[in-house]
Amino acid sequence: MLPTFLVRRIATGCVYSRAMKKQTLLHLNKRNRASLLFPAFVFCSSIAGAALAQDKGELLFLNNCAECHQRDGKGIPNIYPALAGSEVVRGSAVDVALVMLIGRGEMPSFAGSITYEDMASIINYVRNSWGNSGEEISAQRIEKLR
Ligand code: HEC
Repeated sequence: MLPTFLVRRIATGCVYSRAMKKQTLLHLNKRNRASLLFPAFVFCSSIAGAALAQDKGELLFLNNCAECHQRDGKGIPNIYPALAGSEVVRGSAVDVALVMLIGRGEMPSFAGSITYEDMASIINYVRNSWGNSGEEISAQRIEKLR
């Protein structure tokens, strides 16, 4: 996963370059137009998709987790553990999913209160924010853990 700022920058760049290409394209014949536009479109849509997924995870995290773990993921010492740099969070997406499904200590279970799709977005967000980096998990994989 690319860092958020980079994804946003590339996504914005895509919008600008698309607008600029419109001008240039008026001077190109149809064949050249297609060979330029299609790869640009595929590239831009995949980047924009990644930016949206990251934003969704961030929003869900702010709504469901940040009151305890804080928006910067640093938690509150001796009360709410940091997710930034946490071994559990960096270790395995399945372990994070289990904590969310079962709950732990003071932390409530989220099973039944948010969808598996949203759980996956949150997990992928916390595992790829504040210096953490980890491979993604799908909603289907989480559903199978029940
Ligand atoms: C009401 C406060 C609260 C909320 C809301 C909350 N947590 Fe927690 N969370 C805790 C507490 C307290 C612990 C430590 C539990 C223990 O080990 O006894 C914890 C532990 C964790 C851990 C294990 C971290 C480690 O290093 O051991 C993860 C991962 C985690 N929470 C993720 C989340 C996610 C993701 C959300 C939002 C969906 C969330 N939490 C919402 C209070 C909360």
